[in-house]
Amino acid sequence: SPSDPDLVERARKAKEKLGNKVFVLGHHYQRDEVIQFADVTGDSFKLARDAAARPEAEYIVFCGVHFMAESADILTSDDQKVVLPDLAAGCSMADMATAEQVAECWDVLTEAGIAEQVVPVSYMNSSADIKAFTGKHGGTICTSSNAKRALDWAFEQGEKVLFLPDQHLGRNTAVRDMGMSLDDCVVYNPHKPNGGLTADELRAAKMILWRGHCSVHGRFSLDSVNDVRERIPGVNVLVHPECKHEVVAAADYVGSTEYIIKALEAAPAGSKWAIGTELNLVRRLANRFAPEGKEIVFLDKTVCFCSTMNRIDLPHLVWALESLAEGNLVNRIEVDKETEAFAKLALERMLALP
Ligand code: 13P
Ligand code: SF4
Repeated sequence: SPSDPDLVERARKAKEKLGNKVFVLGHHYQRDEVIQFADVTGDSFKLARDAAARPEAEYIVFCGVHFMAESADILTSDDQKVVLPDLAAGCSMADMATAEQVAECWDVLTEAGIAEQVVPVSYMNSSADIKAFTGKHGGTICTSSNAKRALDWAFEQGEKVLFLPDQHLGRNTAVRDMGMSLDDCVVYNPHKPNGGLTADELRAAKMILWRGHCSVHGRFSLDSVNDVRERIPGVNVLVHPECKHEVVAAADYVGSTEYIIKALEAAPAGSKWAIGTELNLVRRLANRFAPEGKEIVFLDKTVCFCSTMNRIDLPHLVWALESLAEGNLVNRIEVDKETEAFAKLALERMLALP
């Protein structure tokens, strides 16, 4: 069982044996049983930055999903090894944009005569291949905490943005934070010829949004917001920008996981909150802030955990730590050199954003 005292003790022992040789990073969506062993926790941006903060650590155990471990490998030195405790911890959104599909999209933009005006901006939640494509074509990576700054930067470099792979973060940032209209955005569908768009539609658009989404956040609806407002008078609705535009438009506050935590830390006693993001985090926050008299509920009870984040459980973490402590390098995530060079360019542009 997750709270198995034997497993807790084994994880503690293996970590103690490894000492400074191991650095454990934990994304906010991880289970409590895993988070208790994280040396740092954070949103995607903070973890990308922190991954490089311990150059003396030989092993970086990433409790998160595959694209985060890849990014950590790209941003750390060659002799640091990044380990993902369960290799099946992927991200369905990242899988929605493949290197072949994106190369085909670029051909479509080239044929429409607009490729030279387009700057790619890719969400962190993408494979290293997509990050390399982005770097190669003069673009940057963004996360949900710096998407506006990334778009500001991109529109200084060119007239149009190709936003990959989360259409919702792209649309929400363009409309909510940049004052664009919904008509400035078109959706490129990789499963249709020419993305399902005419050359004229592509020429008229400012934001070309890839047709990808998060299967967890995509399930919050406008009904979820209306229902909770009816049930809990005076509730503050706080959602992640991976939610659909209509949900974000109806919410009171929008931000990354780190933003959500800070907002609740600053909230006054007696305030009520409905949170639209992954369930592990919402439960942890509800428990943490209940003694301070802050009432925190999940925005929609029919939505569940991120199943891939949840694959990293205590048994997998114990297995990874014990293997490393015995000198067995398991589940290493290693990006090939050429991909790494271009992907790093895109990630470093993000880290240099003002
Ligand atoms: P942040 O932690 O950057 O808000 O990202 C959320 C997410 O979905 C990561 O997969
Ligand atoms: Fe991917 Fe959504 Fe899970 Fe984040 S919450 S890892 S975007 S599927």
